[in-house]
Amino acid sequence: MLFASITCNTEEIADLLATGLGEAGVTTEVKQIFAVDAAELSGYDIVALGSYTWMEGELADECLALYHALDTVDLSGKLGLAFGSCDAAYSPYGAAVDLLDDKLRSRGALVAEPLKVPVWPGPDAKERCVQAGRALGGRRAA
Ligand SMILES: Cc1cc2nc3c(=O)[nH]c(=O)nc-3n(C[C@H](O)[C@H](O)[C@H](O)COP(=O)(O)O)c2cc1C
Repeated sequence: MLFASITCNTEEIADLLATGLGEAGVTTEVKQIFAVDAAELSGYDIVALGSYTWMEGELADECLALYHALDTVDLSGKLGLAFGSCDAAYSPYGAAVDLLDDKLRSRGALVAEPLKVPVWPGPDAKERCVQAGRALGGRRAA
């Protein structure tokens, strides 16, 4: 579970997803995306990538190194999920999540529905994040 987050909203989503994965019996490591080498991802069954969206639909700068390095990593046979905090006051809404989703697909991961959460996750969104983690963990077990 890798994330980029400035004001901690995407980090909180990552933690909630990890809670759901844990409930499904999946041990999860949550790390800042800039601190991870893309080649390390080969050692995991599930790859979840999160980013806030920045200036007119851009991916967080902290994601860029891993995002480009993924072009050399085969993720086939793995489950994937893209997620992030987004704000409908900006356009395009959550475009960074779409970029991560496209990347995971292009590298062969079997991806779940991308998880876009409006700004700070309130109670309903929190439950949606935990549920998404549970569902992802359940798919691995299936
Ligand atoms: C200058 C600026 C540009 C932004 N651009 C977008 C955008 O294009 N699309 C979007 O959905 N959200 C956009 N946002 C909203 C952020 O993604 C949102 O504040 C998010 O909660 C930040 O996540 P974080 O707490 O994980 O850092 C922008 C925010 C700022 C301050």
